[in-house]
Amino acid sequence: MRIAMIGGGYVGLVSAACFAEFGIEVSVVEADRAKLASLHAGRMPIYEPGLDRLVASNVAAGRLSFGGDLAAGVTGAEAVFIAVGTPTRRGDGHADLSYVFAAVEQVARAIDGYTVFVTKSTVPVGTGRRVAEIVRQVRPDLAFDVASNPEFLREGNAIEDFMKPDRVVIGCETAQAQEVLRRLYGPLFLNQTPILFTGIETAELTKYAANAFLAMKVTFINEIADLCERVGADVHDVARGIGLDARIGPRFLQPGPGYGGSCFPKDTLALVRVAQDAGAPSRLVETTVAVNEARKAGMAARVIAACGGSVRGKVIGVLGLTFKPETDDMRDSASLPVIARLMGDGASVRAFDPQGMEQARPLLPGGVVYCRDALDAAQGADALVVVTEWNQFRALSPAGLRAAMRGKVLVDLRNIYDPMAMTQVGFAYHSIGRGAPG
Ligand SMILES: NC(=O)c1ccc[n+]([C@@H]2O[C@H](COP(=O)([O-])OP(=O)(O)OC[C@H]3O[C@@H](n4cnc5c(N)ncnc54)[C@H](O)[C@@H]3O)[C@@H](O)[C@H]2O)c1
Repeated sequence: MRIAMIGGGYVGLVSAACFAEFGIEVSVVEADRAKLASLHAGRMPIYEPGLDRLVASNVAAGRLSFGGDLAAGVTGAEAVFIAVGTPTRRGDGHADLSYVFAAVEQVARAIDGYTVFVTKSTVPVGTGRRVAEIVRQVRPDLAFDVASNPEFLREGNAIEDFMKPDRVVIGCETAQAQEVLRRLYGPLFLNQTPILFTGIETAELTKYAANAFLAMKVTFINEIADLCERVGADVHDVARGIGLDARIGPRFLQPGPGYGGSCFPKDTLALVRVAQDAGAPSRLVETTVAVNEARKAGMAARVIAACGGSVRGKVIGVLGLTFKPETDDMRDSASLPVIARLMGDGASVRAFDPQGMEQARPLLPGGVVYCRDALDAAQGADALVVVTEWNQFRALSPAGLRAAMRGKVLVDLRNIYDPMAMTQVGFAYHSIGRGAPG
């Protein structure tokens, strides 16, 4: 069986490598020449644990290939997956579908027989219908089907998530399309992964509903964390106390600086617009978006307050830049507004991230000092801020950190440290959602 993957980014590359691992012949079409050159040289254009080995072994086995020539890539493909970006459209919050539609048009022109156009990109309800219209316009002669197969993988755990998903959602309308996708996901059928066949609109909406729900859960615990600080409660105990309730569940109840990344911010915003346009506005999601924005913007104020009300002339060490650990993805990371505000208020910033510094450079103000490691970032700092909870930061010696610094302020936006251990070595330690009892 042969398929094509249009777009070799986080989702396209991981999905392609995993399908190849299932034994399918996959050709990835990537428009970005730099990414393509790096793939041809055996270097991964993104950081995702285990991806380099999975790609190398499937390339060596002849099942996975990369190219820039779309016509060659899609020849003979029983299914063509669209895995291009759907960023927020400038100005109105809708998903920008121009990459999706451009890819569909290119594929429609190039394809030589029946194929299933599968959108793996996160797309608003109604996109599948528009994809079908485009294909019909461009190639009235072509036999094809359209399917929606949203992707639920998490960066940092993407291979495991693809290979052992909680579920696979497939929206399609014909027996032929269903049969093609059933064969593709054959190994998952064998290990009894729940596979939901739905209508196309349902599959499209399921992805947005899942992301909006998780974003809401994160935002909820962040608000509870603020309340804990005011009333002398501990948000971790509250999270455990509610998370042990099987109806709620423990995941996505970690307080932090507000959600970021390549999905939640843009997908919540897109759902808000879709719901408004459909005349069924989602006030919960609208509020989630607003609360999260305010939270991210407000994180620098916490640092400034911890520094006594001003950071002018101060050196701030920042540990972690990416929106979460185990990725190099900087899209909508909380570090961006935090660092911009601190520097705008006259601080100088020394930053370290194990994987994200290259991606961070074009997004952060010039003048950020990029450091060798965490201790280097702490060197001579008046205050240290933990923005991303990389495991290597958890293992740092409190005394070593304290000794490297000039000041003693530690603002832990991820609660990775034991407050007692930090205060014992002399830190003025500030975490999230832990109020002083009494
Ligand atoms: N990143 C995630 O964790 C994640 C998870 C689930 C779903 N998604 C969704 O998957 C989609 C892709 O996300 P991503 O993070 O992989 O984006 P990305 O920006 O990393 O990758 C998209 C790739 O598509 C390429 N591309 C664009 N147009 C092309 C064309 N016509 N032909 C060939 N290549 C083309 C780009 O050069 C880019 O490399 C988005 O809709 C996103 O919302 C992402």
